[in-house]
Amino acid sequence: MQKYYLTTPIYYVNDKPHIGHAYTTILADTLARYRALLGEDPIFLTGLDEHGLKVQQAAEKNGKSPKDHCDDMAPAFINLWEKLNIQYSDFIRTTEERHTTIVQKILDEVYQNGDIYIDEYEGWYSVSEERFITDKELDSGKFGQVKKIKEKNYFFKMSKYQTKLIEKIETDELLIQPLSRKNEVLGFLRNKLSDLCISRPKSRLEWGIELPFDKEYVTYVWFDALINYVSAIGAFNDTENFERLWPADVHLIGKDILTTHSVYWPTMLLSLNMPLPKQIFAHGWWLTDNEKMSKSLGNVVSPLLLIDDFGVDAVRYYLMSEMVLGMDATFSSESFEKKYNSDLANDFGNLVSRVSTLINNNFDSKIPIPSTMESDLANNYKKINLKDSLDNLAIDKVINDTMTFIRSINVFMEKNEPWKLVKEDKKKAGHILFHCAEALRLSAILLSPVMPSKSNDILKILGTKEKSLAWGQLKPSSSITLSKPIFPRIN
Ligand code: MSP
Repeated sequence: MQKYYLTTPIYYVNDKPHIGHAYTTILADTLARYRALLGEDPIFLTGLDEHGLKVQQAAEKNGKSPKDHCDDMAPAFINLWEKLNIQYSDFIRTTEERHTTIVQKILDEVYQNGDIYIDEYEGWYSVSEERFITDKELDSGKFGQVKKIKEKNYFFKMSKYQTKLIEKIETDELLIQPLSRKNEVLGFLRNKLSDLCISRPKSRLEWGIELPFDKEYVTYVWFDALINYVSAIGAFNDTENFERLWPADVHLIGKDILTTHSVYWPTMLLSLNMPLPKQIFAHGWWLTDNEKMSKSLGNVVSPLLLIDDFGVDAVRYYLMSEMVLGMDATFSSESFEKKYNSDLANDFGNLVSRVSTLINNNFDSKIPIPSTMESDLANNYKKINLKDSLDNLAIDKVINDTMTFIRSINVFMEKNEPWKLVKEDKKKAGHILFHCAEALRLSAILLSPVMPSKSNDILKILGTKEKSLAWGQLKPSSSITLSKPIFPRIN
């Protein structure tokens, strides 16, 4: 089976998860389920980023040790993923030994290679970004609290790999998507790359992985965190598994962490002589009132409240369909309710009720027998190219194409009026209703990665377990069941 290794960023545990975190995780889960639908073997990694200043400060604020703080925070993420029906293959925490030992191993390797050196550095340090910023960045005023710091630190020779990195990005050997983000990275790489400060003196920050070659320092949180993508799958440890899974097929990230993923991470891998990930995909932000949702702005939407109000599948559907991958999207309860009512309650849900009721009333609750497997619906179905859309990670397109198909079932019903036809030509009405039911089965399967449990409910109504994507697999004579509306209207 073809493997498909995909990752989410690992989330900081300085605060509870919000809709931004939920979005990327649902995206990864949906994508993994789609790859499985295509017959592949998805391996989906997510987890937590537990070191660094932000986490240390959050722990201090709560009067806890950093490790206790992390242990207390981790369940908030794990429980939310369970509620959101996230089926990850592995969950990594950067405080786990399987990770810390590999970070130290990698630091040793890079040090032995001669790609790490010590130097004194004086510069402006951004607390929120946890890194030294350039004078130009300082002038932008976008970096919040900054401090002038002068200290001895260890540096990674990132600049040494600049030319090689540009080549890999230009040739798409490392594919950065969408194109605007690739251009952004290439633009950034037009200036001379500086080396990366990868240590923090313990006098300033204690909460991190100790450098194996100097006990007075801990590792810079990004150098530590990025390594999760390989430590989790057995780099320098379980070679067989590692070689099967690496390089990653895609790292899903938000656009704010593009540089760390597209510059820091690949140069680290180049120094280690390891293959680069195949693809990095940067999605946009969820906004409210045109501002990024973020803790500091106090405008975050809790995914938990949404699930309690509307159910998990409706939330997944909204987040996956409303954001055109790569663009920003605006979240509002009005647009949520509008989309739910028009797509799910009206177009999809009503249709399931209509078709199942007609079969129930006129065909003794048994799927009728079609005269052929040909119909307008069969033709419409063949126009959907799942693989193409998925290779472009265009989940919103898969959803739109499926909704267009569902609307075409409605049109087909109106055109053929099986409720009238059944009195004149029962066989023909049966043929029409078979095709409607089969189209509904396939619609439910096409949307199953987005709405796993509602899709199953629909298959149950249609009396089938058949998950094949081929047209015409619904079994005539099998019994359907009636149920309450699948997507009750929100008033
Ligand atoms: N710990 C780092 C990632 C390390 S990966 C090796 C980090 N964590 S984070 O918790 O701050 O953010 C994680 C992700 O959430 C980022 O991809 C970010 O883009 C995403 N989001 C945070 N707020 C968001 C929105 N309002 N909308 C969409 N996603 C956003 O960065």
